[in-house]
Formats: sequence, structure tokens, C-alpha cells
Amino acid sequence: MPRFVLRVNGRDREIDAEPGDSLLSVLRYDFGLSGSRYGCGEGQCGACTVLLDGLAARSCVTRVGSVGAKAITTIEALAQGERLHPVQQAFLEAEAFQCGYCTSGMIMAAVGLLKTNPNPSEQEVARLMDRSVCRCGTYPRIVKAVRLAAERMRTGTAVMGGSK
Ligand code: FES
Ligand code: FES
Repeated sequence: MPRFVLRVNGRDREIDAEPGDSLLSVLRYDFGLSGSRYGCGEGQCGACTVLLDGLAARSCVTRVGSVGAKAITTIEALAQGERLHPVQQAFLEAEAFQCGYCTSGMIMAAVGLLKTNPNPSEQEVARLMDRSVCRCGTYPRIVKAVRLAAERMRTGTAVMGGSK
């Protein structure tokens, strides 16, 4: 079995894996990063979303052998100590979740969106977030949270709240 070195959350991590193994399973079961969720396993629901070089990617259909030197960022690396990422803070304030199963994937998708489009319209946010599945139907609050985070990040007024 070949050995891969993956750059995960700013740290090089070694793993013996088959090139075709899913990145999600390595993150969750080998590296213990369980914030990325398994939903459909087919790239359809978004629960497993991480960032690859800053862009949102569905880790269930990302093969370990395809990652190379790309920087992998998971939900575990968003907060800085006690300070939540502005998107996490906005999700909390907007109460943009119920069961929370989709939430880490939604947040990572939103962070990826705001990197490429810091000022998305409501329609653009809704279109992107609609590609991820929330079985609890919290889409209106998710859109509100992403717009709130975008505004704060643009204007430098992000409230960096504590993760209590
Ligand atoms: S678990 Fe990856 S998209 Fe559904
Ligand atoms: S909050 Fe339950 S699936 Fe989205």
C-alpha cells in the first residue's frame, strides 16, 4: 500500500492508503477529524465538504491519490482557539441549523464561496447552498447566515465570538 503525505489543517500527515480511498474516510477514520460528515457518499449532499486549496470539495468522492500537495482544510481548523470563524458565528446567531448533520458541510461550502465571491447576492448564496442537502429545511436561515458573514467579513466587522 503506498504512503501519502497529506497537508491537513496546516500540518503534514502520513497515511498508508490505496490511491482510490476516499479522502473523507481517511480524514474521519485515520486522522480522527470527524467534523466532515458522511451523507450520501456519492458527491450529492455536501455533508463531507472540505476545502482543497481554499475551494470547496466533496471529500467522499475525492480520492486520496488525487490530492497531491493541495492544502486540505476541515471544519476543525476554522476557529482560532476560542474565536469562531465569522461564518460559524453567523450560523450560530442566525440559528441556521436544527439537527446539525449538514452544518459543517454547509459552513465549509460557505467559506469556499466567500473566498471566491466576497459579496454574493441572495440568489447566488441560495443557488450554491441549495446544492447541499439540509433535510431539516433550514435553507432560509442558512442563506441569512452566509449573507451576514459576508457583510461582516467585507466590512471588517466580523464578531469573533467565543465557542462556548
Ligand atoms: S457524503 Fe459527500 S456529498 Fe454526500
Ligand atoms: S440541520 Fe438537519 S440536515 Fe441540516
